[in-house]
Parts: sequence; structure tokens; C-alpha cells
Amino acid sequence: MTKAKAEDLDFDTLGFAYHDLPYRYHAEYHNGQWGPGELSTESNLSMSEAAVALHYGLQAFEGMKAYRRQDGGINLFRPIENAKRLQRSADRLLMEPFPVDRFVEAAKEVVKANQDFVPPYESGGALYLRPLLIDTTPNIGLHGGQDFTFVIFATPVGAYYPGGLTPTSFVTSDFDRAAHGGTGQAKVGGNYAASMLPGKKAHDAGYSDVVYLDPIHHEYIEELGSANFFGITKEGQFQTPKSPSILPSITKFSLLEIAREQGLNPIETSISINDLDQFAEAGAMGTAAVISPVGSITHHGQKHVFYSETEVAPVTQKLYDRLTAIQYGDEEGPAGWAVDVPLD
Ligand SMILES: Cc1ncc(COP(=O)(O)O)c(C=O)c1O
Repeated sequence: MTKAKAEDLDFDTLGFAYHDLPYRYHAEYHNGQWGPGELSTESNLSMSEAAVALHYGLQAFEGMKAYRRQDGGINLFRPIENAKRLQRSADRLLMEPFPVDRFVEAAKEVVKANQDFVPPYESGGALYLRPLLIDTTPNIGLHGGQDFTFVIFATPVGAYYPGGLTPTSFVTSDFDRAAHGGTGQAKVGGNYAASMLPGKKAHDAGYSDVVYLDPIHHEYIEELGSANFFGITKEGQFQTPKSPSILPSITKFSLLEIAREQGLNPIETSISINDLDQFAEAGAMGTAAVISPVGSITHHGQKHVFYSETEVAPVTQKLYDRLTAIQYGDEEGPAGWAVDVPLD
């Protein structure tokens, strides 16, 4: 793949795609320790055909964004939380965690080295960072644990909603994404592999994504293909599902705090798919999706419309405005949320 050049990119029409940027961070773990790590221009990884990452799915990843501020500086949003979640994912898969402080420094290095690719403030885009941890131990037995590679690469992504927040439609699925007691709380490729077929069926049927229900009763909302779910009740309460098999979304935990700030009395609770009538508004939340209004959910052929299928609802808009204002540095957020990336 040819290397991307910043001058060739139109930052106003970027989607969510991979561009091979000049630099990524690369570190390897051998003989019981992490090596020093460095920025690299090589975007291909080399490993044994017997690497357990390729056979048994011993890999975990993260997704985070760097935002161009109006003053030209760049913010990372809560990178420590991504570093900690990758450690938890690593623990779940018996992989060697990458140190939190080194993760954050590496993320800053990657952003600084690729700073020409951070979309301008006005574009509403961001530089998406993809930290990746894989077990490269060559082994055909069911264990790894000796050799690991940690990478952070980056790619510029466009505004999720170039024309403003637009509600989309979702559908429940008979498929499960993750089991209680499985790997749903870890950000590991296997969960996403399990969601490809249901996701494709939903897209083919004209929906933007799937609403997964709990794997035991198929009644309680779990999450969406790549975002957590929230609803605003008719009484004005922010509710989001509590489940042992969903990804602990950093956007979700941030919105729980913002919702508290805005007097929405937020709770994590069980949300039955048969109780959608209680909600005046609904949305999806995640790093990529930011906040996406959920216009409707179709369950067993019955379509439930929330606020509107075309207009963003007022509480959802207010949450979106506050979250993005903190991310882009327009408003002060809680301590540690917006992390400045030194550029010289
Ligand atoms: C399955 C799933 N749930 C939730 C999220 C949202 O998590 P976060 O807010 O940390 O990006 C994501 C996106 O990363 C996801 O892939």
C-alpha cells in the first residue's frame, strides 16, 4: 500500500478508512521484557506462521481519537482509560500487558509524528489511533505467552455526521455477540468476528446496525455492534445497560458523568427490549460513533420509533454538544479528560 500524503487528503470528505501514515509505534516483548519501542515507518508486521494470534485469537486492541483544537493544538481524550482497558483485555487473554505510562507516551509520539494528518478543527474529523497487542509466540499447542508485539498506528477519520446528527435505524438479532463470562468486556477481535454476520444481515436489510440482546433470555439490551446504548426516559433519566458481556465504553463512562452534570440522574440498569416505550430518546455512544441518535429499533418485525427518525432529540443533542466541546478543547472538562499532545 502506498504511503498517504497529507496534501493529497480532503479532510472534509474522509470516511472511516485506513490510510498508511508515515509513522507508527512498535514495541516487542521477548525473554520476559518489553523492548524500548520506537517509531517505525514499516506498516507491515512480520511473524511466524505459527503465531498464536493468528490461530487462537490472542490479540486485543483499542480505539481512541486525537482532536485538533481551535488554537491549533491537539488533544487526546482520556488515553489512560484506553491503556487500562487494553491491560484488562490482555489479562483476560493471558497476554503480557503493555505499561500504561508507556502506552500514553507512545500515543502522544504517534500523534506528534503524524500531526499533519490530524484533521483541521473546522472539519469535525479526528486522528483515530488503533493500539494493537498480539501474541506472536510460535506454537500450535493451546498456549502462548512468550512473545508479543504492541503497535499504535493512526489514520485520519472524517466527521461522523458531516451534516449534523442524523438518527439511524437498528434491528435486534437472534445471534449473540458475547457470552456472560466470555470475553464481552474485553476489546478482542473474537467478539467482532462473532458480530460480522449479524452486522451484515442488518446492513443488507437496510439497518445501520444490530442491537444485541442478552445471551441468556434474549430480552435485555446489551449493546450495539460497535457502541453502547443509552435511553432517556420520559421522566428525563439517562439509562444505559448493565451487563457482564458488554464493552465498558469510555464514552459511556464519560457520558454518565456529563449526564450527572446535566441533572439527568444517570443509572446503569437492565433495559428490557419490551420496555422501549419508557424512553423519549435513544442513542449509541462510542469513540467512532461519538453519540448517534437511535431513530428506531425493530424487534421481531415490530418497529419502535423513539423521538424522530429524522431529527435529533434535545437531550441527545445537549449531551453531544458537551462531550464534543470537551474533546475539541472548546470547554473545560473534568480533570484528565483532555490531554494535550506536546508538538515540539
Ligand atoms: C462493541 C463496542 N461497544 C462499545 C464501544 C464504545 O467504546 P468506547 O466508548 O470506549 O469507544 C465500542 C467502540 O469502541 C465497541 O466496539
